Amino acid sequence: MAEINYDEMIKLAAKAMGESYSPYSKCRVGACLLGESGQYYLGCNVENASYSATCCAERTAIFKAVSSGEKKFRAIAVVGGFDGNIKEYFPPCGVCRQVMSEFCKDGFEVILFNGKERKVLSMEDVLPYPFGSEKLK
Ligand code: THU
Repeated sequence: MAEINYDEMIKLAAKAMGESYSPYSKCRVGACLLGESGQYYLGCNVENASYSATCCAERTAIFKAVSSGEKKFRAIAVVGGFDGNIKEYFPPCGVCRQVMSEFCKDGFEVILFNGKERKVLSMEDVLPYPFGSEKLK
């Protein structure tokens, strides 16, 4: 499998951020998810006047991929910031971590970028002691 191109994924996540629909929080977030097929799936946050109906960028990308027929992933890059200014890391929320853990297993990488440096985390880093399907048997 080809090496993960972190710079390219961060660039695409920033591009996806351009589509963010975030009139309420003004926090623009973009994600670039890499499938095992090599395909990238981009997502942005999509807010709603009924705030809890909002979907985060990470879940938008994951749902886009799964509904396109891909369920195994290698990495996700996430960038975000108030008014789209990428100044600090924008780590995935708890709900997105749970959704990631459903599809993103061993070796999956979460790539964050603060405008200057990147940070690469494992699934274990972002969600230790996950609740998974094995608990439902
Ligand atoms: N947001 C994301 O898109 N991803 C996260 O993991 C954290 C939060 C969005 C949701 C909402 O539109 C805005 O950021 C502020 O919470």
